[in-house]
Amino acid sequence: MSQGADRQPVLEADALSLRFGAVHALRSVSIHVLEGQIHAVIGPNGAGKSSLLNCLSGFYRPQSGSVRFRGKDISILAPHHRAALGIGRTFQGIQTYPSMTARENILSGFHCRMATGILGALIYWGRVRSEEETFSERAEAIIDFLELEEQRHAVVGDLPYGLRKRVDLGRALALEPKVLVMDEPMAGMSTEEKGDLARFILDIREALGIPVVLVEHDMEVVMAISDRVTVVDFGEVIASGTPAEVSINPRVVAAYLGGNVA
Ligand SMILES: Nc1ncnc2c1ncn2[C@@H]1O[C@H](COP(=O)(O)OP(=O)(O)OP(=O)(O)O)[C@@H](O)[C@H]1O
Ligand SMILES: [Mg+2]
Repeated sequence: MSQGADRQPVLEADALSLRFGAVHALRSVSIHVLEGQIHAVIGPNGAGKSSLLNCLSGFYRPQSGSVRFRGKDISILAPHHRAALGIGRTFQGIQTYPSMTARENILSGFHCRMATGILGALIYWGRVRSEEETFSERAEAIIDFLELEEQRHAVVGDLPYGLRKRVDLGRALALEPKVLVMDEPMAGMSTEEKGDLARFILDIREALGIPVVLVEHDMEVVMAISDRVTVVDFGEVIASGTPAEVSINPRVVAAYLGGNVA
């Protein structure tokens, strides 16, 4: 586990407030994700976890508060600009293209990094070819990393759920993110699939050096792989700390024993 007060923050949100009409989804929520750490966001259904992740990646615009990436204020940046800066994202559910192969899905992740537009592509054949070769090599590296060699040419719609989610992760990694934001990547997985994905998430932190922000309901997984945990309840942060610290926090115990956690 990586503790350490000397770690730099990579992705920070301060005092985010977000309303949808009468619903107060976030009330002055702050989170500080540090380099080299897996930071879990937990809380009951409807607590505001996805809303928080959407504010980090720019899909939701909070009414107040700020978001910083590596110290730079990115609050006004659109999602694709944040993605280009290095904020990678996977969503609740499946985001892959079912009729494409695993490799094609991963290649589709490079799209927003393509330096050459259509006009450029017509003029600079050489550049396009070398870009394609580079992306092809990187896609192969991701396939190796995620142990998807056997599924490389399989149509994603035919794959079991756990492998489809792994392809989805490969697509996010294609962006070469500086931080990866994942919303319930293990929902609906078998225990074995969860174990595999937990191992890959640890590898993403260790081998690739990419910090991860992760919403997860499975407390066993959260306790096993997280360096820090932020607990959200009714749009508010009720606790933040190491897994050991939050698990004995009376507000967290009360929220969870209240029986409103999935
Ligand atoms: N686009 C939206 N429009 C209206 N209300 C929304 C929207 N997104 C979220 N909400 C509301 O904000 C609150 C927080 O929702 P959010 O999806 O962030 O919760 P969550 O913690 O991710 O829940 P779950 O564990 O079920 O995924 C809920 O009351 C939800 O209905
Ligand atoms: Mg959610």
